[in-house]
Amino acid sequence: MSDPRVIEVLPDKPHLIQRALELVLSAAREALAQRGQFSLVLAGGSTPEPLYRALAEQDLPWQNIQVFWGDERYVPVTDPQSNEGMARRAWLDQVPIPPGNLHAISTAAPDAAQAALQYEQELRAFFGSPAGEFPVLDLLLLGIGDDGHTASLFPGTPSLEVTDRLVTVGNKDGQPRITVTYPLINRARGVLFLVTGASKRPALQAILAPTGDARQYPARLIRPEGSLVWLLDEAAGAGLNLG
Ligand code: 6PG
Repeated sequence: MSDPRVIEVLPDKPHLIQRALELVLSAAREALAQRGQFSLVLAGGSTPEPLYRALAEQDLPWQNIQVFWGDERYVPVTDPQSNEGMARRAWLDQVPIPPGNLHAISTAAPDAAQAALQYEQELRAFFGSPAGEFPVLDLLLLGIGDDGHTASLFPGTPSLEVTDRLVTVGNKDGQPRITVTYPLINRARGVLFLVTGASKRPALQAILAPTGDARQYPARLIRPEGSLVWLLDEAAGAGLNLG
């Protein structure tokens, strides 16, 4: 069977971010033309920040763009670790997107399990997805950690076993995270990985190899029904043996 994934290696991070912008805008145009709305799920961490800054410069029909988060650290939005806070500073607070279009993961609940439940309920309400159904998101942005995690699906954690929920509690070294589940990710029309830096090479080789242990490298679980594109800079992706 042909490999449905596309792997592009760009010379450096600026080129990767420019290519990512092209792909996000292309997905937005297609979704808006076909369905009048574009649902975009944001990655956290540091890699996507320049992409979010570039999106702040775009002239888009913000009223038809719905923004979600793929995961969140269990901290207030004012915390420097907050994925919502990073995306707001870089992009969302700079454009006239209706506040109701920003579907952040609330971390105000007494515990992470309650926050995960609340986010699941928000997703189901927005997409009209009853229990047992997985909504189809237009595009998810994802990164990977040096350990092969993606979103907040960390190696060897219970989050990898969750197949009947949209959202669950992740765990990074004892710190709770809220994360979308891999069955929700795999329902998406498109997944776009952004990976830069030499530190990601070992995990990337293990993730992209023909065979491997998904519990050790959770990004191996990501096989969306739609498109799967890996954007790598040369530091991360040059010369990988993809079998
Ligand atoms: C998070 C992210 C996480 C991230 C990777 C890569 O909340 O940290 O969602 O999955 O994409 O850890 O992070 P960097 O882009 O900072 O390398």
